[in-house]
Amino acid sequence: MPHQSDKKPAETEYSNLGYEILHYRALSSTNQVAKEIARNGNRGRVVVLADTQLLGRGRLGRRWFSPKGGLWLSIILRPKISPKDALKLTFIASSAVAVTIEKMFGLRTAVKWPNDVLINAKKVCGILTETSLQNGDVEFAIVGIGLNANIDLEAFPAFVRSNSTSLQHELGHKIRLRALIENVLKALEHRYGLLQQGLWFTLLQEWKGMASFLGEKVKITIFDEVLTGEAWDVDEDGVLIIRLESGAFRKILVGDVTLLRNL
Ligand code: BTN
Repeated sequence: MPHQSDKKPAETEYSNLGYEILHYRALSSTNQVAKEIARNGNRGRVVVLADTQLLGRGRLGRRWFSPKGGLWLSIILRPKISPKDALKLTFIASSAVAVTIEKMFGLRTAVKWPNDVLINAKKVCGILTETSLQNGDVEFAIVGIGLNANIDLEAFPAFVRSNSTSLQHELGHKIRLRALIENVLKALEHRYGLLQQGLWFTLLQEWKGMASFLGEKVKITIFDEVLTGEAWDVDEDGVLIIRLESGAFRKILVGDVTLLRNL
């Protein structure tokens, strides 16, 4: 059911790369609106952007707090990949954001499996990729990027604030959102092109190069199961491999990773 605020963007802008940016003041979720646009057959290069989201969605059905000042956007893609490879889009979007933040602001970033970008071990960005399937193929994918940009951490509830950061908090000043959007789209477009050319291993290597959690002691929460061990590797399918305290290895397809040094 479309949300009342989702009906019409306040303005339509065009990015330097020719993306049509549908800019809303407030809407339910940019992923939700992008999905409706894609379902209605739009085949262009469309980005849905919102100043604030009323029902922002996080991974595993969680709520994503989206106050004003953040970069909340979703990109509609029509990749020729199998459904199990949709995770690759999350990885390339994380790398695109991490590299862009380093280049633009000189802040040291890291990525954490499966979809986080961190600064000083705190989450600054999350990616939510959602796909629509047709006859077993990916019909379209929505890559949602939630980046805490010009946000005072006080705007978050305490449980979010304790493990999050923002660019404003790290830099001590606000940044130009429009320049950040352009650079993130450019970095993602580059990596998406490489993915479509079959260069996944190169992209995975880039991501692993920023995955400072590898080799660390971690806690893995898989619904109500909790494991501890060493984050050993991420395989070619994007699956996390943990070395448990018993020495056994376990493949993790879904779950949350907490760095034990943060506890
Ligand atoms: C996560 O880390 O749990 C993923 C968060 C993804 C949030 C972004 S904000 C833009 C897009 N629209 C949504 O509703 N969610 C994603």
